[in-house]
This record gives sequence, C-alpha cells and structure tokens, in this order.
Amino acid sequence: MSKQEIDWSQEKTKHFQEDFLNWYHLAKRNLPWRATNDPYAIWISEIMLQQTRVDTVIGYYYRFMEEFPTIQALADAEEQKLLKVWEGLGYYSRARNLKAAAQQIVAIYHGQMPMTMDDIRSLKGIGPYTAGAIGSIAFGLPEPAIDGNVMRVVSRLFCSDADIAKASSRPVFDQKMRHLMPERDTGAFNQAFMDLGSSICTPTSPKCEECPISQYCLAYAENKQTQYPVKTKKPKAKDVYFVAGAIEDNGSFLLTQRGDTGLLASMWHFPLREVTKSEYQELASLWEKDDQPGQIDLIAEESTPTIFSDLPVIWQKRHFGEVTHLFTHLKWHILLFYGVKRTSFSVESGRWVPESAFDAFVFPKPQQKLVAQLKKYQKLDKDF
Ligand code: ADE
Repeated sequence: MSKQEIDWSQEKTKHFQEDFLNWYHLAKRNLPWRATNDPYAIWISEIMLQQTRVDTVIGYYYRFMEEFPTIQALADAEEQKLLKVWEGLGYYSRARNLKAAAQQIVAIYHGQMPMTMDDIRSLKGIGPYTAGAIGSIAFGLPEPAIDGNVMRVVSRLFCSDADIAKASSRPVFDQKMRHLMPERDTGAFNQAFMDLGSSICTPTSPKCEECPISQYCLAYAENKQTQYPVKTKKPKAKDVYFVAGAIEDNGSFLLTQRGDTGLLASMWHFPLREVTKSEYQELASLWEKDDQPGQIDLIAEESTPTIFSDLPVIWQKRHFGEVTHLFTHLKWHILLFYGVKRTSFSVESGRWVPESAFDAFVFPKPQQKLVAQLKKYQKLDKDF
C-alpha cells in the first residue's frame, strides 16, 4: 500500500461511513437545494455556492429558480434578466457560464442534465469540485467534491502532511476521499464533510467534543487538531501590471523577443508594456463593459488603449481577458487586447509570425496563457 493510501480495515471504513452518514441524516442543515432531486436545481445551487456563503445564496437560489425554472428557460434567458437576478452575488461570469452551459445541454443533451462525469465536466463553468458535487448529489456517482472544508477534515483525520495550499496536493485528498467513499448515498457523504467542516471541524477552534467522527480522527487522538491542515503561507509576490497586444495581420501576429538577460531572457511574446496598477484597473474597467463573445467589433481610434497609441493598429472593442502568472517573487497581471494592423509597421526585435508557426517559438508561460486566451476568444467568436 502506498504511503498516501489509508491503512484502515474495510470494517473500520464501513463503520466510519455509517457513523458519518447517520450523523448527517440527523443533523444536516435544512437547505432548499437539499429538498430536491432535480439535477438542474442542484447544479444552480453548486454554482452559486462557489465563493459565496450559504446564507447569502438561499435568497438568490429561490429567485433564480422562480425566474428560470428549467434548463430551457435558462438557455433562452435574456442577458439583462439573468444578470439582474444575479446582481449582488458577484462573479458574473458564473451567470454567463450557466447560460452558455444550458445552451450546451439543450444542443447536445436534448435539454437533460448529462449524467456522466466526463459530460458534466464538459459543461462551461464546471470544474472538478462542482462536477463531483453534481455527480454525487444529483446522480449518486462515487465522486468526491473536494473543497477547503473537505481538505481540512481529511487532513485532520489522517494527520496528512499534504499542503492544502498546493494544487499538487489535490490528488492526495482525492485518493483518500475515494477510499472513504461509500457505494451508496455519496451525495450525502460529500455534504456531510461540508457540514462538518462549516459547523464543527472549523479552521481555528474545532469543536471535537461534538464531532461524530472524532473516534476516527488521528489529529484528535494525538491532540494535534490545530496543527492540521498544513497550509504554507507563501510570501506575497510583488504585483506587476502589463497590457499585451495581440496584433493581427491576416493570420500573422506580431511577436517580440526579450533581451538576452533577465527574466525570460530571449523568449517571445506579444508586445507587452508595463503600466501602473491604476492604469491597469482603469483599462480593465473601461473595456470590460462589453466582454461578451461576438463578432469582431472595431473601435473608434480615440478609444485606442493609449498605451499602444504609437502603433498603427485598429483595436477591437473589448479586451480579451486577463492572464496572471506567478513567478517566485513576482505576480504578473496582463490585460490582453486584440487589434488589426492598419498600416505596415515593424518594431524593434519584433516579427510577424503566422499563428500556425507559433510552435517554432519559445513562449514563456504567460505568453502560452495569452495564446490560450486568444484562441478561446477566437473560438467564442466563431461559436456565437
Ligand atoms: N457548499 C457547497 N455545496 C454545498 C452544499 N451542497 N451544501 C452546503 N454547503 C455547500
């Protein structure tokens, strides 16, 4: 057995499942999305619960389900109406992604929520956590839904040294959760972790005397509850702000090469200019208003991002999102703009390169992200 697996007997695991599920069915919070089997309603609740507290979500959930009671209704939703129902909840891309995913479901799955993990994961706005939550709660699939609560509880159960701040620890928790998972009632099992994590196994002063699974908890046995989970505090990286221009000339883009010393020496990327934080924020907010996919929409010259005003480029009316990249001591924030060459020009250390030839150039990670971002928008423009 590898170190990461659990050396509990099958019998112990079974008792654990029984004790935990019994507790959940007695003590579970009475929440509206727990009173339904409708996979659509469960999906909506899980999207709202990303980054938002349960108490805040409840009212929004009722209003949303009243306004958009079916997947078809959501797919047909008027943008303004949708955003109005979401108003105040924040992270508005969640609402837009919901509508796009509803349209995917109508187009591909005849309006029925898909039931396999691969299909669920293919929906816009659904990552591993949400896919696991929907798969288990709506369809009883044996899938973990790993969030901060789950990691904290599991970490304490096993005195796991896996650092919950690191994405690379995720498989450790995934493996443990799969080992613990019962065959049936997997949605209840996942939600038992959520409830325990939010009410009893809390970050700073867990109420172990009330815990239904303390007898299985190694941290409790060794009185090390507060030592787990391991979560490294990273020294804060310095924020640096840039705008990048994806400037097109008939399928070719302008790339520039960095100097041969310093960070990312000699590597290639779209023209990049450093700006101050406030310039960056202003550009982001000015241009964010129209961040929907749509046909290329050219802007008046006076709206050119001033930062690139020396280049003869016709800029598109919206920016292409933001890319961030963390180096050891620096965090880059890059706002990507797209534009078309107006008249012939060249820049120092620059070259016009067909997109199909990008592979021949060495791109640092932030540039890879910018290209991915550009492709995403190109695809959206085609799809819509
Ligand atoms: N947080 C995320 N999903 C949840 C759920 N189903 N119940 C309670 N809290 C949650």
